[in-house]
Amino acid sequence: MTRESESGIPIDPVYGPDTQADWDPAEKLGEPGQYPYTRGIYPSMYTGRPWTMRQYAGFGAATESNARYRDLIANGTTGLSVAFDLPTQMGHDSDAPIASGEVGKVGVAIDSVDDMRVLFDGIPLDQVSTSMTINAPAALLLLMYQLVAEEQGVEAGKLTGTIQNDVLKEYIARGTYIFPPKPSLRLTADIFKYCGAEIPRWNTISISGYHMAEAGASPAQEIAFTLADGIEYVRTAVAAGMDVDDFAPRLSFFFVARTTILEEVAKFRAARRIWARVMKEEFGARNPKSLMLRFHTQTAGVQLTAQQPEVNLVRVAVQALGAVFGGTQSLHTNSFDEAIALPTDKSARLALRTQQVLAYETDVTATVDPFAGSYVVERMTDDVEAAALELMGKIEELGGAVAAIEHGFQKAEIERSAYRIAQETDAGERVVVGVNRFRLDEEEPYEPLRVDPAIEARQAARLAKLRAERDQGAVDAALDALRKAAAGEDNVLYPMREALRARATVGEVCGALREVWGTYVPSDAF
Ligand code: 3HC
Repeated sequence: MTRESESGIPIDPVYGPDTQADWDPAEKLGEPGQYPYTRGIYPSMYTGRPWTMRQYAGFGAATESNARYRDLIANGTTGLSVAFDLPTQMGHDSDAPIASGEVGKVGVAIDSVDDMRVLFDGIPLDQVSTSMTINAPAALLLLMYQLVAEEQGVEAGKLTGTIQNDVLKEYIARGTYIFPPKPSLRLTADIFKYCGAEIPRWNTISISGYHMAEAGASPAQEIAFTLADGIEYVRTAVAAGMDVDDFAPRLSFFFVARTTILEEVAKFRAARRIWARVMKEEFGARNPKSLMLRFHTQTAGVQLTAQQPEVNLVRVAVQALGAVFGGTQSLHTNSFDEAIALPTDKSARLALRTQQVLAYETDVTATVDPFAGSYVVERMTDDVEAAALELMGKIEELGGAVAAIEHGFQKAEIERSAYRIAQETDAGERVVVGVNRFRLDEEEPYEPLRVDPAIEARQAARLAKLRAERDQGAVDAALDALRKAAAGEDNVLYPMREALRARATVGEVCGALREVWGTYVPSDAF
């Protein structure tokens, strides 16, 4: 049985004591590392290499975040993951009026290549893989990373990492978009081409379901809307003249792990199977790496509670276990205090230790896809797959992901799902320990980490110094070249790189593009 939204579209299956599966192992199971990769993308999975422990971090100025990255590396993290503050994510300088109050708050403030150099000071970029959660200005941050690597003597071909670069989900959830869909997709294609030519080991996009899930999407909605966005990006790159096997191996994905771990394991297995089939049947991809859905997972932030925050340690461990059973390639475990404030050094370390216990003390890494053949997980896999395919069919009927976004379809479906969750929680049907059951009469005090409010003035002073020192003529000429490329057909990343090299700021580069491409104004379709 599948719950349906008011529009009659399946939201997610319902499981109970009567869930049985007439399921034929011989027909459905397949092998890990074999098409359609239901059981995992590599034959050996974690028996070959554990997932990457990639803790999302960033706050304050580049100096503070650099110290946190060094601390995480010292404690055994195996991948970096940069959180940027909102002004950076929206393409504004720290001294722009609109940035006031947000500088260094939800991530690190990066205004120019000078800040990027500080961010990775003492971190050899040929020895780490770095994920950057940046979307509309993703190209700028990647290019500044490449410029800093060049200064370290590291050639671009050795760089590994990922830019999120997924603006479509920003239109649906979270909202850190700048340009309208058409120029945004053009920029995405330019990034695919640039990386194919200049930074071939770089993962060019992290097509994300996480933020839609955090906004309320069910497992089926999360993978349906994410894979539909993925199809839009592939169509865009093919339409821009690229061969699917030239860029598809470097696409990646990003999903949530909720505490409902059996359903989450099924979700990940269904997503791999759908994507493999889409890439083979719709796009004719021939390279096996083009068919493999590689993904990062973050434990569900929205399930963390401010009440009895230590209970979140248990939630995160359960969620992380679901991601591991589901075959994630990379994992971020939330800190238990994140519902209150930025993680402290201790809570960030505890989050990492959670992964290390799973990887090195348990036996979950010794068997590939341990739930294979489980009647309930295989049945759930089939059901989530069916519900997701039905939603993807609806999006196709609307004309694809961008058209559906402009209809407000995904947003409306997620809001209906979020409303249902809220109703179930308020009614106590959906238990949140410490919140609507097992509450304390009086919460114990907790002292959170606070960002130094002087960060804003410090960043403004750095920008004033940069502008005074640089060759303004070179900056102006480089920005003019960028505007010209943006107005024409040439790949904008090449003039963009030279503008950043001349120390143009994030605000100036995005400002030049805004002049040519305008900014996105959401439709109020629903
Ligand atoms: N057998 C054979 N090869 C294997 C293997 C195995 N068992 N396991 C790993 N490998 C190989 C891989 O093929 C890869 O080889 P390559 O270098 O040729 O590509 C190498 O070992 C590294 O393995 P992975 O690529 O699997 O692992 P990575 O960690 O490097 O990459 C990824 C994982 C998902 C592909 C990548 O895109 C990634 O790291 N994504 C992270 C995204 C991220 O951190 N996002 C944070 C978002 S936070 C946010 O949005 C905001 C917040 O509010 C939520």
